[in-house]
Amino acid sequence: MSEGLVTAAYIIAAILFILSLAGLSKQETARNGNKFGIIGMTIALIATIVPIVYIDIQSIIYILIAMLIGSLIGVRLALKVEMTEMPELVAILHSFVGLAAVLVGYNSFLNIFTGEHVPETSTLLNIELTEIFLGVFIGAITFTGSVVAYGKLHGKISSKALTLPFKNGLNLLAVIGSIVLMVLFIMDGGSTGGNSMIYLAAMTAIALIFGWHLVASIGGADMPVVISMLNSYSGWAAAAAGFMLSNDLLIITGALVGSSGAILSYIMCKAMNRSFVSVILGGFGNEGASAGADEEMGEYREMSAEDVADLLKSSSSVIITPGYGMAVAQAQYPVAEITRKLREKGVNVRFGIHPVAGRLPGHMNVLLAEAKVPYDIVLEMDEINDDFSDTDTVLVIGANDTVNPSALDNPSSPIAGMPVLEVWKAQNVVVFKRSMNAGYAGVQNPLFFKDNSYMCFGDAKDSVQAILNALK
Ligand code: TAP
Repeated sequence: MSEGLVTAAYIIAAILFILSLAGLSKQETARNGNKFGIIGMTIALIATIVPIVYIDIQSIIYILIAMLIGSLIGVRLALKVEMTEMPELVAILHSFVGLAAVLVGYNSFLNIFTGEHVPETSTLLNIELTEIFLGVFIGAITFTGSVVAYGKLHGKISSKALTLPFKNGLNLLAVIGSIVLMVLFIMDGGSTGGNSMIYLAAMTAIALIFGWHLVASIGGADMPVVISMLNSYSGWAAAAAGFMLSNDLLIITGALVGSSGAILSYIMCKAMNRSFVSVILGGFGNEGASAGADEEMGEYREMSAEDVADLLKSSSSVIITPGYGMAVAQAQYPVAEITRKLREKGVNVRFGIHPVAGRLPGHMNVLLAEAKVPYDIVLEMDEINDDFSDTDTVLVIGANDTVNPSALDNPSSPIAGMPVLEVWKAQNVVVFKRSMNAGYAGVQNPLFFKDNSYMCFGDAKDSVQAILNALK
């Protein structure tokens, strides 16, 4: 395979990746987006692997064995993973990208260190050493940060923010220490007699701890931003690996992932009214927040599924606000069924989707689309928030943090400042959940104790199915 052909294949793959990103930005075109991505990746893999056949047939066998093992694990994971576990899977996959960047960095460094690869000029040597240092730095942060994110999402690590004393000072120290090590590393020039290896290893240790601390310091409610931020970091780590391997496609792909992840993080921060800088600096400036899951809030009232059905029969406008519990219960199908039934009776039914409802961007949209709820009645928070006061009944299905009024009226809450669906403004609010437990951010929800709120306890799917039966 000639170099020209490989370049042409890389350009086609890069264009397909861009088309894939464009397609994935809308529900209607998401399937095509996925197809473009798959075709692009297949072309990229073929164009990368085939030339190796001509150089070293032995290596290709190792590569194919590694690909086979990786594919088997990938297929097994994809078949096994539940929709609710996707964010954990994404987080752990990001950690692999980070680890790969670290390994590529060390490999490139060892090539220079052992004299196997000698850059032609000292300027080129400095550029390569800088690439290696930055690649390992970003990769190590991404690796431990993603492992902590996985632990938090999987419930293995507390979702509450870790608040070590002087946490911002510690982060600053890690950055300054790494910059000093970088200068020493480049000045040392990667020579065998020097200390380059020690500087690189010391920075790796610092970056690993730094990544762990950055993500551990961020509270549960801000995790969506962390995931998209790690997504972005993993892209930059891949781009850095692309520079080290002199692989143009890896640089382009890494930059696409890095920049789209950064844009998503920015959009998430805006949606959640968070400072982008504060979140990427490990919750800088959020030291005052307190959790308060056990706060006493008064009495709540219960409502049976049959009574909810009666309430719905007498309502002319209904808004459904789904959350993570709908995904856990897989309640989207009976929810879609109820929607159809009520619409047939002339009730104006719409959905209000919070940007961080569930556990991954667009989580609720995907579930509702799967259950064939028409797109035009599924509205974003900004589109529907003013309509709650004119609504008869709101059904809060497995949502909690995203409908918590303390985000607006309690400045010491960990979710303070986050815009929420203002469901309490409706005439009646029915909350579907299994207990009085707090949501992901670990804060109690005053909504449950309001005069117009009713709790409908039980698994959301069972409760909604019971309402459906009562409506028939
Ligand atoms: P959450 O605040 O996570 O609350 C979900 C509620 O669902 C829980 O209170 C739980 O109460 C209930 N639930 C769980 N299983 C249920 C079942 N089988 N049947 C009925 N109810 C069930 O939900 P939310 O409002 O969607 O908020 C999302 C939270 O996750 C936010 O804090 C957000 O920042 C965070 N987060 C979001 C993302 C993205 S990108 N969307 C990523 C990471 C984190 P019970 O246990 O009492 O049933």
